[in-house]
Amino acid sequence: MSDTTPRKPSGSLLERAAEVYDFGMNLRPARQDDVRDRDIVQEIREVPQEPLEDVQEPRPIRAPFLEEEAFSAPYEEAPYEEAPQPPAQEFPLEEAPPPLEPPTRTMRGAGATIDRAMLAAKGLLVPGAPIGALVEEFRQVKRQLLQTARVVRKSDGDRSRTILVCSAKPNDGKTYCAVNLAISMAAEREVEVLLVDADFAKPDVMNRLGLKDGPGLLDALADPRIDIEACVVRTDIPQLSLLPAGKKSNTDTELLASRRTSEIIADLLAADPKRLLIFDSPPVLAASPASVLANHAGQVLLIVRADCTSEGDLRDAVAQLDGCEHIQLVLNAVSFVPGGRRFGSYYDQEDAK
Ligand SMILES: Nc1ncnc2c1ncn2[C@@H]1O[C@H](COP(=O)(O)OP(=O)(O)OP(=O)(O)O)[C@@H](O)[C@H]1O
Ligand SMILES: [Mg+2]
Repeated sequence: MSDTTPRKPSGSLLERAAEVYDFGMNLRPARQDDVRDRDIVQEIREVPQEPLEDVQEPRPIRAPFLEEEAFSAPYEEAPYEEAPQPPAQEFPLEEAPPPLEPPTRTMRGAGATIDRAMLAAKGLLVPGAPIGALVEEFRQVKRQLLQTARVVRKSDGDRSRTILVCSAKPNDGKTYCAVNLAISMAAEREVEVLLVDADFAKPDVMNRLGLKDGPGLLDALADPRIDIEACVVRTDIPQLSLLPAGKKSNTDTELLASRRTSEIIADLLAADPKRLLIFDSPPVLAASPASVLANHAGQVLLIVRADCTSEGDLRDAVAQLDGCEHIQLVLNAVSFVPGGRRFGSYYDQEDAK
């Protein structure tokens, strides 16, 4: 009978990582302090992806506050218009005016449709699909993050509701893990997830979900007149919304390092007390936004790509993220696990019956 008990991570990162794959160099005990307390919370298997010929082209998403032309015009020229206000009405002096409707924002209507077949073809989690290994793996990541968030809340309050997903180098699986984590988190009863694309140079969240990019975080950082909430795109996955990266700017790091970032994050969190922000970010060792965002995050999920991330890169990345005390490591794209035990094998067996 196979072992169906979820495996508890044990030992230090270096001990566990060395068990699974070779960092390519000898471990030096004198430097283990750097990452001693940062355990690998979960291993994510490499999921085969189907050829994408049948996958539909990304559909444009429309935030209801924007006019049709805003999306048909070249992106640079897309105008930002004030949300339409109700026309002024006159009331007889003796009659109190009825309370005004709040300004129209994006959180109305059904939300952008995310193609479930496309999610499956890309090896991503499909909401409502039968439970399998990938679902279980992200459940483990999620539980760990939610548990730590409770601890962080005691000392850091609302900051506990902000999670940064990053990695040392390109292609480690940041967006893959951020999207899957967001879908998994959105299935929680008490959580509203806002997945924020903070990879300004190579935004990929909207495309990964089959949606077109639109106004987003950088636009709101650059122009204080833009209401960040009006850039939020609701989806047809319950409790999952998205915030695109916005228009590219050469000063993205400076904008991100400005005080406005704190204000925007505070506004996003204040808009919904159940909201959890998940930031997808560029590689820590290739661009600075991730280390800047770490100063705002309650937790960092640092993706380590099996057989790719070197020990040196991992140490350097951890050092860059010192703005956040709570760094959790995920070993991604594991194709071999010693002992052959996997989360989700229980469900696989059930399916086979
Ligand atoms: N566990 C996994 N199983 C299967 N495919 C994966 C896995 N993790 C990542 N990938 C694939 O690897 C590729 C790179 O992943 P992804 O784009 O998420 O990396 P990234 O770190 O966000 O890259 P970038 O630094 O360019 O933003 C994608 O095609 C993704 O689907
Ligand atoms: Mg990415």
